[in-house]
Amino acid sequence: MKASVLSFRAAVLFVIVGMAWGIVMAVSQDHAAMPAHAHLNLLGWVSLFLFGIYYHLHPAIDRGRLAAIQAWVWIVGTAILTVGVGLVRTGTESGEPIAAAGSIIVFADILLFAWLVFRPAESAAARSALPAE
Ligand code: HEM
Repeated sequence: MKASVLSFRAAVLFVIVGMAWGIVMAVSQDHAAMPAHAHLNLLGWVSLFLFGIYYHLHPAIDRGRLAAIQAWVWIVGTAILTVGVGLVRTGTESGEPIAAAGSIIVFADILLFAWLVFRPAESAAARSALPAE
């Protein structure tokens, strides 16, 4: 699956969960988990959808294995970070290392995305021309 398709599909699934969570918070009037809801929506919906747009605009990168890895790592990191922040904000201190692990994963992954954006365009184009990719 192309990285853009993966990003768009995962982003839509994340925002369905994120919006449902927002409705639950609003109805229950318990906003304790608000930072987790915010991170789920901003990392899982907004950022992932933006990655998808970037990859769609750059087909040579979109077809590459690294872009798919970047999208998958972001998906996993977002889920881990959201669970960790949610646990911490609802009073479970053991969520701290989970939140820390998630934050390191997404930070490392944004560095990978930066590398994909900054690496020379010819290099990506040459890779896409290889039959193996
Ligand atoms: C059905 C849709 C949604 C509902 C019902 C909802 C509900 C809520 C609620 C109840 C809060 C807590 C507000 C507070 O305690 O001050 C909140 C906070 C927040 N939500 Fe949502 N939300 C929804 C969708 C989204 C989406 C799509 C995004 C991002 C793209 C988002 C981002 C945020 C952010 C950043 C905050 C924190 C705001 C602050 O710091 O004051 N939400 N949301």
